[in-house]
Amino acid sequence: MKTRFQLFLIFSLYCACSAPKNPSLSTIDHQVDSLLSMMTLEEKIGQMNQYNGFWDVTGPAPAEGDASLKYENLRKGLVGSMLNITGVEEVRKVQKIAVEETRLGIPLLIGFDMIHGMKTMSPIPLAEAASWDMEAIEKSSQIGAREAAAMGINWTFAPMVDIGRDARWGRVMEGAGEDTYLVSQIAKARVRGYQGENLSDPLTLAACVKHFAGYGFSESGRDYNTVEVSRVTLHQVILPPFKAALDAGARTVMNSFNDLDGVPATGNSYLQREILKGKWSFGGLVVSDWGSIGEMVNHRVAKDGKEAAKMAVLAGSDMDMESYLYVSHLKELVESGQVKESLIDDAVRRILRLKVELGLFDNPYLYCDEQREQEIVGSEEHVAGVLEMAKKSIVLLKNEQNLLPLKKSGLNIAVIGALAEDKDSPLGSWRGEADPNSAISVLEGLIEYPDNKYNFAKGADLVLEQPVFLKEVKLNTTDRSGFAQAIQAARSADIVIAVMGENGFQSGEARSRSEIKLPGLQQELLEELVKVNEKIILVSMSGRPLDLSWEDEHLPAILQVWHLGSQSGHAIAQVLYGDYNPSGKLPMSFPRNVGQLPLYYNQKSTGRPFNPGDDIVFWSHYSDVPNDALYPFGHGLSYTSFSYSDLRAEVLENQQVKIKVNLKNTGPREGEEVVQLYLHDHFSSLTRPVRELKGFQKISLQPGEVKSLEFLLGKEELGFFDGEGNLQVEPGEFTVMIGGSSKAELALKFEID
Ligand code: BGC
Repeated sequence: MKTRFQLFLIFSLYCACSAPKNPSLSTIDHQVDSLLSMMTLEEKIGQMNQYNGFWDVTGPAPAEGDASLKYENLRKGLVGSMLNITGVEEVRKVQKIAVEETRLGIPLLIGFDMIHGMKTMSPIPLAEAASWDMEAIEKSSQIGAREAAAMGINWTFAPMVDIGRDARWGRVMEGAGEDTYLVSQIAKARVRGYQGENLSDPLTLAACVKHFAGYGFSESGRDYNTVEVSRVTLHQVILPPFKAALDAGARTVMNSFNDLDGVPATGNSYLQREILKGKWSFGGLVVSDWGSIGEMVNHRVAKDGKEAAKMAVLAGSDMDMESYLYVSHLKELVESGQVKESLIDDAVRRILRLKVELGLFDNPYLYCDEQREQEIVGSEEHVAGVLEMAKKSIVLLKNEQNLLPLKKSGLNIAVIGALAEDKDSPLGSWRGEADPNSAISVLEGLIEYPDNKYNFAKGADLVLEQPVFLKEVKLNTTDRSGFAQAIQAARSADIVIAVMGENGFQSGEARSRSEIKLPGLQQELLEELVKVNEKIILVSMSGRPLDLSWEDEHLPAILQVWHLGSQSGHAIAQVLYGDYNPSGKLPMSFPRNVGQLPLYYNQKSTGRPFNPGDDIVFWSHYSDVPNDALYPFGHGLSYTSFSYSDLRAEVLENQQVKIKVNLKNTGPREGEEVVQLYLHDHFSSLTRPVRELKGFQKISLQPGEVKSLEFLLGKEELGFFDGEGNLQVEPGEFTVMIGGSSKAELALKFEID
């Protein structure tokens, strides 16, 4: 058995014994090559194998995946990484086998889906995106990274940067919404938050930008479904956030389940070899999605596991997550000459390099410190941090007659809906290692304001039993026995707070819905409540945009609170009572009905746009619903108001334009506004959106205060990608529009040469 010290000696020896043959190689490359030269083919392939930590997660474990085989392979040095092992004690156990019982003692990468927190939960990513606050998102990502790293993890499978244009797709909760520019900015903030300045800091993690690529375009919003997108959409809409995350230093990429141009992404050379590792010179590692190498057999492009392994490795997938196909077939594929060993070497180099960067060769137990785990996980600082993030994530959708904020005393309030007392749903999907039922409920938040009276009535259960991760959620669609009590509570109240929406497990992976109204009996209950009390505030808790058309028509106030994490109830109460002035803006359009999907603000003009004044029917529209969203992208109200003026443009040299605008707080209280800049290119060689977000700033203003803001537009903002992924800037006229949502009306033309 090798001790840690012996391991350190062996590795130092690799480095010392082999003087750099190529002086241009960095020290890390040199260390990696030295180690590689000592490895057998089998050991190299072992590094490309990632095992789950012995429990089923997002897919069935293949038959040969039983625990004893995994341990056996771990001991043989045939495992490079494990996922879903958490906690210092557990991580130490497997790391010890890898380090002390295998021939070369190479430490493991320990991966986990730390998506929005580990124990102390931040809001779901879609909610955080609504903050449009990059500093806050970076900090929240850092909190999650610190807790995960303190629990032994060194690699998170985040950020997900898939564009979400279809609210039927349950995984929109995990992304940053529909807009490429906003998603790109958030991707960078998250990578900074996870990776920090130094990957070998034991409180940082390696980031993994996913899912490469096109997964968000699963047809009809049905998860794992086929994807049909053009190369132009791929380059203009889908890929830029990946590039942004890589530019910010993301060290790994995960490919995806879907196909693209008829080739599954996992076996897609255009994506992985040509673009990622070719054009973009990505030097990090590509991990498959869960079992996605094996799924190429289901896609019917590989006749068996061996062919699937060959396709994946040739296309540039470096690590096999839970298909067990690399470890089973690559050796034979190399020995028979079907796969060059140099490809294996390239993949292994990428894996080893990350291990060096993470500091694992200096100390394989770097992330395994019980005391640190105790101190960091759930710290007061983290609790305060996720509360701040939660407040920033709330979006005030509607507030007729300034019904909100509420008076702090003298009110008799009916609180209605099962979600009001739910301590589990706010944790949302992808909830790390959060303890079940550990969130602050809305009711718990409200009673912190004790000078009002609260009368809680559930009305109806939302679900029939507490949902579990692997199984379908069972909704209550029949039991109305609590309606009478809720109606009575509403009748005798000054005001009603109805907390309704989705259970925490109704969004997320494999949680597609074909109908996105309030699920179960909730709308029916609301219909009864409005008959007895018109003053109803809907607190809409969901993991996706819902169809709130009926609610918009009948209720005076709506607050979109998503799944806000551990501190949910406190954040919601503070906004309801005005101790925090809401500043969130929607990162996804809220549709008028499900038939509008996919829906996004940056649509193209088409050959048949609306022509004001025309009353003929032959233009691109629906007969039964307007084309635009109920609540558009970028929309969100405040308890104060803002006005925009003095929009100016100055065209500089070298295709740059300076835009200036004044913003004034015209309302009664301090507040924050997200100033959004949209651009329209009048004529171009490819059809282009009618407007696109190209800049934003979040600004805080005192009542009456005016600030002048400046934006600089350069080639990236003025140009667009063609179908080959080349940036084109075409001279001509543009219109810039600035305002507080994607409906921004203050506009100005300018021209570039
Ligand atoms: C998901 C990935 C995730 C992986 C590991 C898959 O089902 O698509 O996003 O990282 O499981 O849990």
